[in-house]
This record gives sequence, structure tokens and C-alpha cells, in this order.
Amino acid sequence: MKIIAANQNAIEQAATILKEGGLIGMPTETVYGLAANALDGKAVARIFEAKGRPSFNPLITHFARACDIEPYAEMDERAKALAQKFWPGPLTMILKRKTNCPISDLVTAGLPTLAVRVPDHKAAQDLIRAAGVPLAAPSANPSGTLSPTSAAHVARTLGDKVDLVLAAGSSRIGLESTVIDLSTEQSIILRPGGITPEELEETLGHKLHIAEQSDDIKSPGQLLKHYAPKTPLRLNAVDLNPDEALLAFGSTKFMGIKGGGAATDLPEDMIRNLSETGDLHEAASNLFTMLHDMDAHNHRAIAVMSIPDIGVGIAINDRLKRAAN
Ligand code: TXA
Ligand code: MG
Repeated sequence: MKIIAANQNAIEQAATILKEGGLIGMPTETVYGLAANALDGKAVARIFEAKGRPSFNPLITHFARACDIEPYAEMDERAKALAQKFWPGPLTMILKRKTNCPISDLVTAGLPTLAVRVPDHKAAQDLIRAAGVPLAAPSANPSGTLSPTSAAHVARTLGDKVDLVLAAGSSRIGLESTVIDLSTEQSIILRPGGITPEELEETLGHKLHIAEQSDDIKSPGQLLKHYAPKTPLRLNAVDLNPDEALLAFGSTKFMGIKGGGAATDLPEDMIRNLSETGDLHEAASNLFTMLHDMDAHNHRAIAVMSIPDIGVGIAINDRLKRAAN
């Protein structure tokens, strides 16, 4: 991994890396982002891997200008008014994704919406233009840790997981963008940030709903209509029916099979463990992969052990309930 000052030559190097599917530490006015080509699913997958981010938590896509969003998402009157007033700047809008929008489904976690932002930072703007594609970029930190406001933070916490970090001093705002959901009739603030509800209300001319908690994972979760496996899921299983596969969490020592036998004797393709140590973050990052994987085996049903409804577990249970419907 290299850190270089964000001059013209560095921007060109970084743009080449992005076109080849690499990851760039990108300075913005809010926090440093971990950028990849939003159209390249493989590159985007590397973001989730580098951050240890659960794949159901969608990413913000960055554009150089509001008018560049046109092929990808619907800008209604509210969005246009807010763009006019606050872009470039620390405001992220959740908009309806257009049909045939070529942005990777990983970016949006399968949601019908797209989070968009036009950053107010010269290096970010230059990089987006040089790459010639929209850039997906979450904050450039391991998931669940403090967001980075300098190139050194990015290097320290992500190391070789990022190909090149563009250095441009400290982030001016130092706090992630305000996230407003405009994908439905009611405008909702999902994440508070530098731009206040009052400022937004003044421009919109109406009152805003403020989501009760601004948790990075739970906000999109509330809107998520996503992947449900073909195989029926049975939740909160305390034992197994014969010929059910098992999606375990924690120890399987006490999981028995009705009529005799133990889960630990199941053939390899009938058991996956979200986290043997009971780590909810590990379970979150394994959830979709394991469900897809098990779904491919045409089991009669998948029994899922109960997941504690705390921390990331609340999000996991939310997705499992949707997947079981
Ligand atoms: O200031 C920022 O926003 C920084 C810089 C790099 O732009 N980025 C950032 O990204 O903070 P991240 O991934 O750490 O936070 C994005 C937030 C998450 O809470 C995510 O759940 C939410 O935006 N989000 C993204 N797409 C969404 C969608 N389609 N619907 C609802 N929430 C969404
Ligand atoms: Mg973040």
C-alpha cells in the first residue's frame, strides 16, 4: 500500500487502479472513503472484504455533478432542490434506482434504491472525473470502528487492503454526511450529520421524519426487501427434523435430530455455522453467503438456530425474518 499526495499524477495513477478493479483511499470533505468502480461487482466486493462489512449494508455512490446521476437514479423535485442547495457537500440522498441502472447490486445490497452524494472536495472530484465512472465509497475504516479523517488513519487501519491512499490533509468536516431518504413520499433522515434537519426542512418546505436510531446497519434494514432463499427456513430451531439442513450459530453440541442422532453428525453440505464462537459480526458477514450456498443444495428445509437479538443480531434477525417469509 502507498500513500501519495493527491496531485495530478497521483490522481491519474489512482484512476488507473480503479479502472483495473482496485481500491483507493479517497479524501472527501466528510471522511476518507474507500473507493471502487461502482459498476464493477468484483471491485465492490473487495470493499466489503476490506472493511469486514456485512453485505446487506449498502454503499453510497459518489458523482462529480448532480446531472451525472441521471442514468442511475430518479431525482424528484425534493432531490433537485436539495442538490441545488447542498451539493457539492455532505448530504447523501436515498433515491429510487432506475431500471437498467448498471450499478452493481452489491452496492445497493439488492435494494431498489441508490444512495448518492456529490462530494465537496477537489481530489474526490478530480478522481471521479479521471476514473470516468461513479465511485462506490463507504468510510475507509474497518466496519464498526471510528471513521478516518486522514490518510494516515486509512493506512493504519486498512493497510494493504487498500491499493493506494490519496493524501489531502485532514477531512474538513470530519463527520459522515447526513443521510436523507427520499425514495418514498415521506422524507426521512436516516443518519444525522453536518447538515441539520432545520436546514433541510427550510429548503424542502415541509417537516422531516427522523429515524429513531442512526445505526449504520439498521437503517437500510428497515427498508430492505431482498433475497429470500428457495428453500424454506425454520427459525429459532432447538432441534432438527430429519433431512433438514442446519444453519448454526455458536455451539452445535446440544442440537439433536428428532428420532435420534446429533447435528454434529450431519454431512458437510447440510451444516453451516454462521459463527462457531458466537460472534455476531462474523455471523452477519456470513449470512447471505451461507444462505445462498445452502440454497444451492436443494435441501427440504433449513433450520436456523436462534441469534441473540442484540447489536448486529437485531439486523441478522430482521433479515432472517424477511428471508423466512
Ligand atoms: O460522508 C460520508 O457519507 C462518507 C464519505 C466517504 O462519503 N461515506 C460514508 O459511507 O459514511 P458509509 O458506508 O460509512 O455510510 C453510508 C450509510 C450507511 O448507514 C448505509 O446503511 C446508508 O448510508 N445507505 C447506503 N445506501 C442506502 C440505501 N439504499 N438505503 C438506505 N440507507 C443506505
Ligand atoms: Mg461508515
